[in-house]
Amino acid sequence: MSEALDSLQSQLQAQIDALRVEAVAAAEALERESDVPTARARFLGKKGAFAPLMQSLGRLTPAERPAAGALINVARDAIEAAFDAARERLVEKALQSALDRGRVDVTLPGRTVAMGATHPVQQVMDDLVDLLCAFGFELEDGPEVETETYNFDLLNMPASHPARDMQDTFYLQGGLLLRTQTSPVQIRTMQAQKPPVRMIAPGKVFRCDADTTHSPVFHQIEGLWIDKDVTMADLKGTLTHFLRMLYGPDRPVRFRPSFFPFTEPSVELDVWTGTRWMEVLGAGMVHPQVLRNVGYDPDEVQGFAFGLGVDRLAMIRYGITDIRYLWENDARFLRQFATR
Ligand code: DAH
Repeated sequence: MSEALDSLQSQLQAQIDALRVEAVAAAEALERESDVPTARARFLGKKGAFAPLMQSLGRLTPAERPAAGALINVARDAIEAAFDAARERLVEKALQSALDRGRVDVTLPGRTVAMGATHPVQQVMDDLVDLLCAFGFELEDGPEVETETYNFDLLNMPASHPARDMQDTFYLQGGLLLRTQTSPVQIRTMQAQKPPVRMIAPGKVFRCDADTTHSPVFHQIEGLWIDKDVTMADLKGTLTHFLRMLYGPDRPVRFRPSFFPFTEPSVELDVWTGTRWMEVLGAGMVHPQVLRNVGYDPDEVQGFAFGLGVDRLAMIRYGITDIRYLWENDARFLRQFATR
């Protein structure tokens, strides 16, 4: 082996060593797995730092080439291993930091689940129904989609009656409508039962009307008591007692003459609030024509009916000034009336 070649070989050896040190340091300094391929290519790629060394092999004699080639290969293997190790380290590191980020601290307090509560209108509805059931009224139910016959005609409201105006009633196709009152349940119950009848019918009613005190959907409780010899005195006694139970025994109550097509005579009941009279329900002796419409004989049986607006009572009880608050379903509003 000549002196020149000898020095060429040791020069090559020095270059290889330097490259290996540099590459291993670079691999160890990597911080992200995604940077590994580029860094690796900088040394081992086709145009990487090793390429010129491979070319310099050509300047060695064929006899010397295998030894020099072997040196390069050992270095390349070492660098390859350094990058493999770097990849492994970085994959492990990414996994660990993902685990750290997702760590659950079991000592933290839990998130509370918000509990629902009975809606203020439903609370008033429940109270009224409880009270009336104690009087012996039985619960009845009727459809919210009604016919004109049940909602109006059989209740003695002729086609010319102003309440049948398009402005008040939501008419549907096929002669149907959304009931404007719970009174049709009176008719359905009397058609289905023989006297005596003592029923209440709570439920939704619908009118094409909306402002601070009117909602297009609201709630009524209908009442009906039919028997032999039921008189206006029974109406007055029953409803006075009902209001006393609702507002306390000392609360003044007054009956005011009124008009409803399905009762004769008709009254409205007011309760004294301390500053003014407040109307709470409509009532009356069931009109003989209504009794005849359901096949009852008005000479045999009589009775009284009443209807009250539940939403208004809820607004008064809770001091709510705008009916729309009731149906916006704002939890901050509703929470104030939660009883638990
Ligand atoms: N249906 C009436 C309304 O919606 C309320 C009513 C008044 C019902 C008098 C009755 C009654 O049963 O006797 O305005």
